[in-house]
Parts: sequence; structure tokens; C-alpha cells
Amino acid sequence: MRNVQLFNSDWLYVADQAALGADDGQFTPVTLPHTNRLFSHRSVDNLDYQFVSTYRKYLDWTPGEAEEKVFLDFDGVMLAATVYANGVLVGEHLGGFTPFSIDLTDALQPGSNAITVYVDSRERTDVPPYGHLVDYLTFGGIYRDVHLRVVPPCHIDNVFVRAQDVLTEPRLSLDVRLSQPAADLRMTASLLTADDEAIASTKGNVSGQTTTLTFHQLPPVDLWTPERPVLHTVEISLYRGDKLLDRTASRFGFRAAEFRADGGFYLNGQRLKLFGLDRHQTFPYIGAAAPARLQRQDADILKHELGCNVVRTSHYPQSPHFLNRCDEIGLLVFEEIPGWQHIGDEAWQSVSLDELRAMIERDRNHPSVILWGVRINESRDDDDFYARTNALSHELDPTRPTGGVRNFLGSSFLEDVYTYNDFSNTMLEPTEQPHLITEFAGHMFPTKAWDNEERLVDHALLHARVQNLQMGNDRVVGAIGWAAFDYNTHIEFGSGDRICHHGVMDIFRLPKWAGRFYESQQSPADRVVLHAATHWTMGDRSVGGVGTLTVFSNCDEIEVFVGDQRIGRYLPNRTDFPHLLHPPFSVDGLDAYNAWGQDKFYDLLLVGYVEGREVAQQRIASSRLPRCLALTADASTLVADGADMTRLVLRITDEFENPVPYSVQAVTLEINGDADLIGENPFAMVGGQGALYLKARHQPGPVTITARAGGLPAASTTVGLLPLDA
Ligand code: GAL
Repeated sequence: MRNVQLFNSDWLYVADQAALGADDGQFTPVTLPHTNRLFSHRSVDNLDYQFVSTYRKYLDWTPGEAEEKVFLDFDGVMLAATVYANGVLVGEHLGGFTPFSIDLTDALQPGSNAITVYVDSRERTDVPPYGHLVDYLTFGGIYRDVHLRVVPPCHIDNVFVRAQDVLTEPRLSLDVRLSQPAADLRMTASLLTADDEAIASTKGNVSGQTTTLTFHQLPPVDLWTPERPVLHTVEISLYRGDKLLDRTASRFGFRAAEFRADGGFYLNGQRLKLFGLDRHQTFPYIGAAAPARLQRQDADILKHELGCNVVRTSHYPQSPHFLNRCDEIGLLVFEEIPGWQHIGDEAWQSVSLDELRAMIERDRNHPSVILWGVRINESRDDDDFYARTNALSHELDPTRPTGGVRNFLGSSFLEDVYTYNDFSNTMLEPTEQPHLITEFAGHMFPTKAWDNEERLVDHALLHARVQNLQMGNDRVVGAIGWAAFDYNTHIEFGSGDRICHHGVMDIFRLPKWAGRFYESQQSPADRVVLHAATHWTMGDRSVGGVGTLTVFSNCDEIEVFVGDQRIGRYLPNRTDFPHLLHPPFSVDGLDAYNAWGQDKFYDLLLVGYVEGREVAQQRIASSRLPRCLALTADASTLVADGADMTRLVLRITDEFENPVPYSVQAVTLEINGDADLIGENPFAMVGGQGALYLKARHQPGPVTITARAGGLPAASTTVGLLPLDA
């Protein structure tokens, strides 16, 4: 029988290529996911992660009675891995974004076995995305999970769950691939609800290596929708006679996703405008080595905080934890192969095809995934190569269309969906259908979280304008903006601090006003949003004054007060943004109340109404003085597994919780408990805000973190560390 265990703990690490027999004393204990080094959040030099490092772990092995195979399953190692067991080479892998398995069986001995992984994190030109310039950093290390898998020699290797005709008469079939051809075996399969209730079953004999099992009758099933993402599982059992050999579980959803030639995307038969952002998988300080909790939180931020219904995993397959969470919360995904503008030689292309295969075989059961990106982002035409990627994608998954992200018109169109980076920001008329905008804004308007008020407002309004245009254009499927979060990059890009400040959130995932625009497009029934895009000061804008006040809100109406004076009630600006669900509010004339030369400057108060009922208020203090230091942990508990992390958010605010925009004050953190602070300490605030991470060690118990900044009351918070098996 199958036995799968997480293999993340008790690794030894050295930031060097150590000899296979090197003394353990040279190594440091680490837990995966692991970055080959820690960084500052900005000015990261890519040379600093480009080296070969060594990971070692001892595996205690007692052979079972029956014949068995032992695999190490790596979810992701950046950028290439060479694996040894007891000094014997057992496998190699090129490419940092896709999983691979190493068969240890023949190299294992009873007792202790030394597993060594050499991780080459250099930007090797024989491996995508490298070979030319790349506008993102890949970082290094065994940065995703590893599992130990023990299975019989003939076991289930891959399952493709196909739910079809879900709107009429749902059908379900399973393409099951075994590790080797077999004849005298049989299989059974059960369909389970999210509560583990078996609602249908089927069985069949096995012939050859791939068997298709079909459920002949299905009871009525709940559909997977963004609002109610109901998940099901199929459990497959493999038998020889009555002996159970293997059992697997695959999660999926019943949903119909279709891009039609009329220019629309249809989910379960209903047209849905795609509204979303691009996401890079990197984080401040830790590169790409974010544990499950942070991966899942990114999906939650995109869906629940930013109100997106789609994300593009630019420009590579991302963490299984991220995709699992997208399934669970109903966030649609456009997933693409690793790369950036450059296409390498035949060997490079062969790695790319392997990555495409690995991506689709890993992710084709995710109901959230609606489109495969089979072109290297923004690369030139290469009909030979892209005929092969399209064919392979259609062969591995006939149920999903292909897209291929391009940035020039007139390119060869070999895919099913025309996916286009439209940096005109004025929405070109579609040349091909269906037409999905996969990037806009980005480098055309880099904006730092601490930029001046006009810049931040214009950045937010640029996103609002493009989304408004696409919402009003029936020939466009949707628009995915560049980007969700700021990200570390190579020297050829970014603002001089090697960050692309292209996010609607900063690198800490804290919103700029563009983020507030996205937030404001969700239904007030989910979350009421009321946010004034103003520093509320006289002298930050050119010429001075507060100018036109922009408010991002999903309220029907807002009321504005300056000091005690009621200025008026306002409706959303439907003139400039007729197609948005919740247009921004534009309030003019406030300079008459807070004018140059006046002896007093008054507070701003906004009151939001939905269906005539007051639902929210925002007040901004006219003094704009730092009054409060706030420290919050996103999670109140962590698992004491040596890897779990939560974000610690720091804010210096006025008395009404608005960040003081240009605070650069140093904040010093103190920690008490069995955890580490990951980040800069003292931390110099970035536009009144910033974040570090708290990383659990191994002892359960409380951890208290205290933050201090000169002249402000200290802030503290407590996070509980739970035992591993709690
Ligand atoms: C695009 C590219 C992205 C990013 C973006 C910046 O051309 O696809 O990866 O570099 O520009 O705006």
C-alpha cells in the first residue's frame, strides 16, 4: 500500500558544493521550504543566490515484507537538482518550477541512508527562463515541499479526472496511468462529496498502462462556481485479486468553462467577465520559499481582498498550495510555462516541453485552471516550437484551451484564445477572438507605495480606466492587470532598487490606491469598501490643494464632511466609468473649504451608504501626525514545524488608523518565544507601513512580538505555536 509522508524536516544545509562525504559539522539544520539565503526586501543582487548548495538528509529505512518502490517527490527545486543516495547518483532534474520524482529504491540499504541534493541556483542559459534578460528573480533552494512515497512496483502514477456535460447530463471518466503495463489487475473508483460521502462508484479491469474508468450513472451533483466552489474527490483503488495494491484520491470540481468565438468566457453556461491581476510567486526576504500558509494567503488576498475572479500565474507554474486554495475559494487561474521573451535552442525547448507536460499532468484536475499558456511570455513567433506546445497541450488535456501571451500584433496565432499584453492601456480593438488582455499598466506606470498623491491616484485611475473599457467591450473576454504585487527583479528592470513597483499592492502585499480600486469592485454584501485616495494635505500636489478627491468605494452613495461642515452627498462617477460595477467617486470643490492661507485645516469625514443605510465611515486627521504604531499578525497561531510563517504588518498611523504616508521611522522589534523574525530589524518604514515574517521553530507555546518606534506607544501581539500533531 501507498505510504506518503512529508519529507521537509531535519535537512542539513551548506551554501556550497560540499563533497559527498563532507562532515555533518559543516552543515546547518534547516526545514523546507528553504531559500538558499535570506535577503533584504529591496536591492537584491541576483548574483547573491547564484551558487550551488548542498542539502543532506538521513533516511532511516526498513524494507517492508512485500516488494516496494521508494520515491522522493520534489515539488520544486530552483533551478536544477542532482540527487545522490549513499553516494550513488539517482537522478537529475532541470527546471525550477515543476515537480519531479527520484526513484531511490535500488540505492537504499537497511538502516541509515544519506540523501544528498546538489541545488544549482545559477541562472543557467540551458534552462528556461534564462538565456537572455528576465524581468523577475528566480532565487534558489529546495523551495517547495518534498514527500517520501513508498508504493508497490505497480502503482497508480497519474489520474486525469474528466467531468463532462456537467450542465445537462454530467459524465465522469478517469484516465488512470499505472507505473507499468499490467493485465491481471482491477480497479474500483468512488465519487465522494466534500463531506466524504460516497455518492457513486464504478469498477473495471486493467489492461495495459492506461485505463479509462467511466461512471455510468451519476446522481445530481453540485457545480463548482466562484461563489460556491464545491469540490469532489475520486478515490481509486487498484487490486490484484482481493489484495489492495494502491489507493489514491484526486480532488476536482464539476464545472463547464468555455471561451467562445463571440468574445466571451462562459462558466457553467453563464458569461463572466474576467477581472484580475498577474501574480509572481516571490516574497520579500525569502525569495520563492514561502510555506503553504503564505501561498494560500496570496490566493485569499487576490479573491477576498482585491476582489479578483482570475489570476495569471506569470510566468510559470506556481505552488500546489496556491492552486489548491484557488480551487477552494473559486479563483480562476490562467497557468503558463516558464519563460520570458527568450526561446533557446533545441535542448532548451525540450526542457520547456517537459515543463509543459509536468504542469498539465500536475494541474489538470484543478477546476480553477481554465487556460494553459503554451507560449513563452512575449516571445517571438516560432511556429515549429509552438505547434509542438499546442499539440502536446491538446493531447494531455483535450478539455482546456490554449493561450500564448504575445505583445505584438500580427503574430502567428496557433492557440485557441488570443492572449495579449496590451500596454496601449486604451484597449485595442480585438483582431482575433476570443481576446483576453493578460497585462496592462505595469512598466508604463511604475508607482511606489510611497509616491506622491497625484502619482498614486493616477496609477489607481489607470487601472480603473482600462477595467472600465474592457467591461464595456463585449469582444474582450476580460483583463488581467500587471501586477498584483511589487516584485524583486534584475538590474535591467525596476526602479533602481531592483524592484518593479508595478503592483496594485507593494511587495509586502499591502495595498496602494490601485489596490483599493480593485477592492471596491466587489459586492458590498461580501465586504464594504470606502477608501479616500488622498494624503489630505495642502502641499503634496503640484500647485497645491487637495484637488479632485477620488474615493474608491462600493457604496451607492457617499456623504462628505470637512470639519463640521457637510459638503454634500455624491453618486459614483458613471460619466467617466460607465461600465464599472462600482465606479469611483469624484468630489470637486473641496479646496474652497481647505484653502491656502486659511488659518485652519480640517479633518475629512466620509460616510458610505448602501440602499440608504449608513454602512461605513472613514475619517482622516488633518494633523497627519504619527500617533499610533500598529503591529498585527495575520495568523493567531502557527504550527511549530520549523517552517510555518505568518506576516507581521507594521503601520504608523494617524489617530484614525490611516497610514502616515511618508513615515520612514525605524521600528525595532523584539521577540519572546520559539520563533524567528524574518526581515529587517530595525525596520525602516516604507510609506508608513511594511512587514516582516514570523517563522515558527519547534517548541509549542506563545510568542510575543513587541514593536517600538521613537515617541510612539509600543505595540505588541502574540502568536501561539501549536504542536505538530494538534
Ligand atoms: C511585460 C512582461 C512582464 C513584466 C511587465 C512589466 O512586458 O510580460 O513580465 O515585465 O512587462 O510591465
